Amino acid sequence: MLTDLLITNIKSIIQAEEVPQLKVCGPEMSEIQTIDDAFLYIVNGLIDDFGLMTDLHKGNIPYKNQTIEIIDARGKYVFPSFCDSHTHLVYSGSREMEYIDKIRGLSYSEIAKRGGGILNSAKKLHKTSEDELFVQSINRIEEIISMGTGAVEIKSGYGLNLEDELKMLRVIKRIKDTSPIEVRATFLGAHAIPEEYKSHKDKYVDIVINEMIPVITSENLADFIDVFCDNGFFSVEDTERILMAGMKYGLIAKIHANELDYSGGIQAAVKYNALSADHLEFTGDNEIKALLSSETMPTLLPGSAFFLGMNYPPARKMINAGLPLALASDYNPGSSPSGNMKLIMSLGCIKLKMLPEEVINAVTINSAYAMGISETHGSIARGKAANVFITKEIPSIEFLPYAFGSNLIETVILKGKIYSSTP
Ligand code: NIG
Ligand code: FE
Repeated sequence: MLTDLLITNIKSIIQAEEVPQLKVCGPEMSEIQTIDDAFLYIVNGLIDDFGLMTDLHKGNIPYKNQTIEIIDARGKYVFPSFCDSHTHLVYSGSREMEYIDKIRGLSYSEIAKRGGGILNSAKKLHKTSEDELFVQSINRIEEIISMGTGAVEIKSGYGLNLEDELKMLRVIKRIKDTSPIEVRATFLGAHAIPEEYKSHKDKYVDIVINEMIPVITSENLADFIDVFCDNGFFSVEDTERILMAGMKYGLIAKIHANELDYSGGIQAAVKYNALSADHLEFTGDNEIKALLSSETMPTLLPGSAFFLGMNYPPARKMINAGLPLALASDYNPGSSPSGNMKLIMSLGCIKLKMLPEEVINAVTINSAYAMGISETHGSIARGKAANVFITKEIPSIEFLPYAFGSNLIETVILKGKIYSSTP
């Protein structure tokens, strides 16, 4: 039996929902529900109750267990943990030399064409044992947890052959089984075209469909299927074939789309009822119209546009049109070597012109939706997982994205247990 946790004197609980919502769209994105001078009560890893301190003093809380740990959060905020719905954090080594090439003026596509980029990471991953890959990856997991992330989606896609894709997906499963963070796994065999299939891409697509998907799903190693549908990578036709095959085996579609061009990927995502369509730097009126007719969560990854010095997606136009938006880190060695979701909030405000309330919704409830877990994560509601963090003493919630370089998270609680506390 876990010890109950009672957090008292909270300056304000953020995203405290009496009636939970699965996502928020358009104008609702600038609203967040808060309770000032509050308490939060956690039992058996779940949020049991919350409310005003005055109610707690009246003795209205039905304590469930004998052992109870009390945390005084005077002057501090309690947030639901960040949900990072798009990462590639299982990878081997790093690619800072390409970063230098970029500084010297080469583009992401030019680096990829020279055998750098994703293929470079695939080479490194091939030479790395599963155990070593796990050690590198769990270090990144521990880092993102300490920065407030309580749920993460992780993609394969640096294997690009059955054996190495399985290696990645088994590492993701090991993270799922051993870490308190909530994990969802995505099979992204169609992340890049391996060197040996460069002039016969169709053959590689056939391998993804006929060899990889059946084995991966038979071992239950993935929840979602993703394709990099963009200029120089996979076409709409390839994408549709792969998504259809994955869905036949029970995988839910996700997509990398319109990062490098108007690829048609957004429309393909909508057609296959994708849970999310991600990147979206090239989004025009037709793409917005398609997304408005769907349940697909548009997910923006400002870390990669920032790191690559590329265009940002038209977030304001999308919200004003009534769309929901999620934000995620895209944590990967090539285009966004950071899983810092607080920094992503700052980039959302500074570069995407989103308001602090909008970015808070985008990194909690909407990104939970984008990984299919908004019934259990992404806000503070009774019965939801007790994945929350307590801030340091800060003047306002706006201070969080504003102080973009400061670590403002003091205590991390995952599944109702204190994971770390650094006053
Ligand atoms: O989401 N766009 C495609 N894939 C990754 C980049 C991966 C890499 O460069 O290693 C992304 O940005
Ligand atoms: Fe990505």
